[in-house]
Amino acid sequence: MPPFFFEDSMSDLAMIVSSARSEFEGCADAAALENAKARYLGKTGALTELLKGLGRLSAAERPAAGAAINVAKKELEAALNARRAAIAEANLTQQLAADALDVSLPGRGRGMGTLHPLSRTLERVETLFHSLGFAVADGPEIEDDFHNFTALNTPENHPARSMQDTFYVEGGMVLRTHTSPIQVRYMETHAPPIKIIAPGRVYRVDSDATHSPMFHQVEGLWIDRDVSFADLKATIGEFLRRFFERDDLQVRFRPSFFPFTEPSAEIDMAFGDGGWLEIAGSGQVHPNVLRAVGIDPEQYQGFAFGVGPDRLAMLRYGVNDLRLFYENDLRFLRQFA
Ligand code: PHE
Repeated sequence: MPPFFFEDSMSDLAMIVSSARSEFEGCADAAALENAKARYLGKTGALTELLKGLGRLSAAERPAAGAAINVAKKELEAALNARRAAIAEANLTQQLAADALDVSLPGRGRGMGTLHPLSRTLERVETLFHSLGFAVADGPEIEDDFHNFTALNTPENHPARSMQDTFYVEGGMVLRTHTSPIQVRYMETHAPPIKIIAPGRVYRVDSDATHSPMFHQVEGLWIDRDVSFADLKATIGEFLRRFFERDDLQVRFRPSFFPFTEPSAEIDMAFGDGGWLEIAGSGQVHPNVLRAVGIDPEQYQGFAFGVGPDRLAMLRYGVNDLRLFYENDLRFLRQFA
């Protein structure tokens, strides 16, 4: 056996070990490292090829050559494992840094919601009327013709119906055009004395800066043996003074017409340099309305009113377009938080 073969192989071996080491060192991630491993220790890897060449050595040379190759193989495996561990360690360190939680940062806060300015206004109206002795009543938004019109002394074909040109739904039902049907429903189920307010949504075909197709009303109804128009004026005046908390508040009652009240009045208010703004309809409950629910108008009388809380909110907050309340623009709504 020619001695150079063995010597050649041995110097090959030294080169293979050193180049494998430096390749392993140069691998930045696990995939690159596994590829490098295959080039040396894989089925056709450089070291494996040397092992295959052992068969061509003489029996005398083979043990020493085999031992040397095995030593080299162990070395490479150790280098490989060391590099694997180093890569895993680096990955972990990087991961920990990326996931780091800085406990000294300030909290994010809760993003608390707030009540809509109209909801606040309704709550305020309810609280104030409650303090004047009024209970709170409720009724359906999809109303029948009888409660929305007929029982309120507004028979079919009455011209007052067209003043409330409205939204009809199936079965002759109507999206209530005012909260007055709640008067009827309440009187159907309660005997006088009756002293209630009834806040709610109402619907009409109407849209401009001071009208929206959906808006709110707060109905008021006080029926007893001797509730007069003077009580109406006192109640509304007291409520408005408490609601606006202003000394320069002016209120005026302007003669008007509603089928369900007699006499009837629109209520206007003003303060500061602002002009008059209509905020309510009102009047003494018409005897026909009392009769329709079985209350004797010779025994009982009283007043009713329907206030627009949206208008009250506009005045209280200085908002000049009603529609802003319904657009859900957070830039607008946050101003009331
Ligand atoms: N329902 C009337 C309207 O919507 C307001 C009103 C209520 C008038 C009660 C008188 C009495 O315009």
